[in-house]
Amino acid sequence: MPPPVPPAAPDPAGPVRVAILDHTAELGGAELALLRLLESVDRSIVDPVVVLFSPGPLQQRLEQAGHAVVVVPLDARVRDTSRSAGAARMLRAAATTPVFLARLVATLRRLDVDVVHTTSLKADLLGALAAPALRRPLVWHVHDRIATDYLPRRTARAVRALARWVPYAVVANSRATAATLPGVRRLVVAHPGLSVEQVAAAPRSRQPEGPPVVGMIGRLSPTKGQLVLVRAAARVAATRPDTRFRIVGEAAFGTEDYERRVRDEVERLGLAGHVAIVGFAEDPRRELDRLTVCVHASTVPEPFGQVVTEAMAWGVPVVATRGGGVDEIVRTGAPGHETALLVDPDDERQLADAVLAVLDRPADALERAARAHADVTARFSAARGAQVVTSLWREAAGTASRAAAAREAIRPS
Ligand code: GLC
Repeated sequence: MPPPVPPAAPDPAGPVRVAILDHTAELGGAELALLRLLESVDRSIVDPVVVLFSPGPLQQRLEQAGHAVVVVPLDARVRDTSRSAGAARMLRAAATTPVFLARLVATLRRLDVDVVHTTSLKADLLGALAAPALRRPLVWHVHDRIATDYLPRRTARAVRALARWVPYAVVANSRATAATLPGVRRLVVAHPGLSVEQVAAAPRSRQPEGPPVVGMIGRLSPTKGQLVLVRAAARVAATRPDTRFRIVGEAAFGTEDYERRVRDEVERLGLAGHVAIVGFAEDPRRELDRLTVCVHASTVPEPFGQVVTEAMAWGVPVVATRGGGVDEIVRTGAPGHETALLVDPDDERQLADAVLAVLDRPADALERAARAHADVTARFSAARGAQVVTSLWREAAGTASRAAAAREAIRPS
């Protein structure tokens, strides 16, 4: 287990004011991580305000939790440029929005923040354009692996270069993400954490009643691999025809074509009676409750894999593809010590075999799930992540105020 981070004492100068910038208010992985991070931040030490570039469900969830939110609307054409559009197009798009940038700078000045923290790639780039005018330290929170299997080559190259020079520091959501950012001067890893409620959840003592349900929860996207699950479903259903499959989540950020492909594959394989594509779930815990096994089928190394920790905390047996952050979550090693079954990406045969292993040996699966529950609730609390990020914000604010004092001292009178 990592060493405990000592709690910070409040600063006599008052809490650090941090503006957290996100271009989207849809509830993606980074946004859920932000909600939990803020739930665990000590408000006597940090005074956060979230600046969103569009209204949406994240705004409501933040406000319900008592957080200050400001919306500075960004032209939808820029906001919805997909991650695969390329850095040049993204930067051009950003450059066509000087009005937005002027508003953003004015808003951040009015909010009088000490630190600017950006939590999505678009917010990183726009934050980079706004921060010099503010003379405030910029912290990037990177939730994506900045690699060419995940982003277009030029985007990855540009983001890596900027990460070295522009932000004061970078927070990576896993060691795997951190490894894609070579040469960054100040780089810390803060795994997205489980909420207080998730940490307190009791492990499952038995599998749900009825026919087995194999599920996948997350955005529909080629990198998440719903298509691999559908193909594995055909194999599983051939041996266990009573098995049902639930694909929970919706297409977002331009992946509607992929959703069509997944639906077509379900039809083509004659699986319409077995596979349900149920859309976005307001409460993923209700979905987890019905699952006999939770599948994580990413086809490229996952930056972190929040849904894996969530399923484990909820006591659900997990089958996941190895690589990226998943290797930091799942314990492998001697039989009897592992916390999930791991398979190679894009391999429907291995995936089907692992799912069948869970269905055929339920006692082993429950034992593994109980170990996983104990392990992730001990290692991945949002409180731990909040401590890491809070001390970085304090350091950034302290460094900035010392620099300002020095500038003041050398100014000729
Ligand atoms: C992004 C990543 C995912 C991670 C989440 C929280 O959604 O794709 O792997 O779990 O951010 O950091």
